[in-house]
Amino acid sequence: MTGKVSSRMDEGAYVLITGASSGIGAELAWLYAARGRPLVLWGRDRTRLEDVAARARGFGVDVHTRALDLMDGAAAIAALREDDESHPLGIAILAAGLGDMRRGQDVVERAEDVLRLGLVNYATPSAMAAAAAECMVPRGRGHIVLIGSVAAFHALPFAAAYSGSKAGLKRFAEAQQMALAPLGVGVTLVSPGFVDTPMSRRVVGAKPFLQTAPVAARRIARAVDRNRPHLVFPFVFSVLRLVDTLVPWPLKRRILSAIKADQTD
Ligand SMILES: NC(=O)c1ccc[n+]([C@@H]2O[C@H](COP(=O)([O-])OP(=O)(O)OC[C@H]3O[C@@H](n4cnc5c(N)ncnc54)[C@H](OP(=O)(O)O)[C@@H]3O)[C@@H](O)[C@H]2O)c1
Repeated sequence: MTGKVSSRMDEGAYVLITGASSGIGAELAWLYAARGRPLVLWGRDRTRLEDVAARARGFGVDVHTRALDLMDGAAAIAALREDDESHPLGIAILAAGLGDMRRGQDVVERAEDVLRLGLVNYATPSAMAAAAAECMVPRGRGHIVLIGSVAAFHALPFAAAYSGSKAGLKRFAEAQQMALAPLGVGVTLVSPGFVDTPMSRRVVGAKPFLQTAPVAARRIARAVDRNRPHLVFPFVFSVLRLVDTLVPWPLKRRILSAIKADQTD
């Protein structure tokens, strides 16, 4: 399933990163800047986004920024096309996401949260991946990266919107990967476990096998270099994924229902 880097990627082309104002996206921005890649960085918080961009420019690369709320999917599609027109994209990394789950005091997840997660974690990144493909396919090269989560592998009763939105993204990425492979455009789905970022710091309780954001960024960039269709890290979550498929449903239900989880606002 792996392909040659040289034919798939134009080393001088821009790297688009959404969610670049924080966490994994910011680390990816600095990593690609250190490699000498010009960048298009998207975020919502303009101040933090400009701080990330300033540090990236310290590596001597061209960096453009865009503050945009991904709740507006149509605006995101138009903005991606506009950015590709002025700065042709070699890699589009769709890292922005929301990690909300049911709060301890709530009986069910809040309807507004479910809608936000559906848009920001699934609908807009999938539409942006399609827009990126439209731009890249005529050039016969490029790479799209969708950041999902290991939560996609399990039905989490306290995070139905998160696990559901990431499961949707996973299925989209798998299908898009097959559709685009013969056209010279790679697709990598990334399914991380816990990574130490502002998102995971809001989760109350244990975060087993926690990775640092710089380590996560290095693993993601390596997977892109190698045109891996799916990166799951750390490895233990691949094992848990397999176990989830083998355990009979009544037992799985009991285990998943027993997990206690909460988050701070
Ligand atoms: N950290 C983990 O443990 C973990 C585990 C599995 C998967 N992931 C996934 O990894 C990705 C990156 O997360 P992270 O850990 O780096 O979290 P983070 O530090 O909270 O960063 C999330 C990024 O997404 C952006 N974002 C959120 N809502 C947005 C919206 N409506 N419009 C535009 N941008 C929006 C944020 O922008 P602003 O800050 O500017 O608002 C921020 O740049 C996410 O897709 C997440 O689901 C994370």
